Amino acid sequence: MTTTLVLGASGLVGSHVIAALRDLGLEAMGTRFSMDGARDLPRLDVRDGASVAAMVARVRPATIVLAAATADVEACETEPAASYDVNVRGTANVVAAARQCGAGVVLVSTDYVFDGQAGPYRENDTVRPISTYGLHKVFAELQVIAHAPNPLVVRTTVVFGREARGKNFIARLFSELEAGRCIKVPIDQVGTPTYAPDLAQAIVALVRAGAGGVVHAVGNERMTRLELAQRAAQVLGLDCSLIEGVTTEMLGQRAARPLSAGLVTSRAVAELGIEMRGVEAAVADMSWSTG
Ligand SMILES: NC(=O)c1ccc[n+]([C@@H]2O[C@H](COP(=O)([O-])OP(=O)(O)OC[C@H]3O[C@@H](n4cnc5c(N)ncnc54)[C@H](OP(=O)(O)O)[C@@H]3O)[C@@H](O)[C@H]2O)c1
Repeated sequence: MTTTLVLGASGLVGSHVIAALRDLGLEAMGTRFSMDGARDLPRLDVRDGASVAAMVARVRPATIVLAAATADVEACETEPAASYDVNVRGTANVVAAARQCGAGVVLVSTDYVFDGQAGPYRENDTVRPISTYGLHKVFAELQVIAHAPNPLVVRTTVVFGREARGKNFIARLFSELEAGRCIKVPIDQVGTPTYAPDLAQAIVALVRAGAGGVVHAVGNERMTRLELAQRAAQVLGLDCSLIEGVTTEMLGQRAARPLSAGLVTSRAVAELGIEMRGVEAAVADMSWSTG
């Protein structure tokens, strides 16, 4: 029982978590859901309770990192039942399977559990989601904290880094600007951008330290998406004039966004000495590692 089972290892966060575990020589196994290019990972659907139970019984992990989710905020708003199936029922299936073998559960969660009226938020601030995605992540958090063995909820936000499908904010910015296309970026969404490899290292460190409860793990600076885009474009040597600042309202998105959001990392920094990189260092590292 030393293996860590990373559910959602084909995704942005999960792929970096499994890499961080393996970099440390730790035993890790990951799963995918629909990604074709990740055939080394067995397929698992967290909505299928029997399959989740069978996999957990077979692997007998010490810890399960639950990074499998429907993380598309707009899709969750449009199809709330589908979001509930994966993000809430799927979490319940994982917690039930973990209880059978006493595996700890780490849930990756989000600052979208807050309303964005008064960020940045601390671990003990009152949750008040304003979107379906945020509400379902609150339900998932409650299940893990109440019922999982050794529960840990790691909240993060605006994660960016190398990713097979290149769908995170910085990856999209890079591909749009490199192609000479304009990109519209909100001027009124404030957050704490987080570099995926740093988040993954923080998750692994928290697990190894036996941390429990809710911990915030985010980058060490708070800024608007516009500032993030401009600073990243500068590091990447791309044309900042193609970045157009607009209000969130002008984007016409279905799901409400917590505007004054972001997280305070007081617990991670104070108790575990975990610090994460700022934007310039992270984007530079990302571009070097892309070759
Ligand atoms: N990205 C962010 O900025 C951010 C911020 C805060 C919190 N988070 C949280 O971090 C977690 C991971 O997000 P992410 O950005 O890494 O998302 P992602 O890149 O979309 O990855 C999601 C992962 O979940 C898997 N998955 C989807 N549906 C599944 C199902 N029914 N059964 C099993 N696996 C399923 C996907 O598999 P396939 O790819 O193989 O289909 C993929 O591996 C989520 O809980 C999200 O709420 C993310």
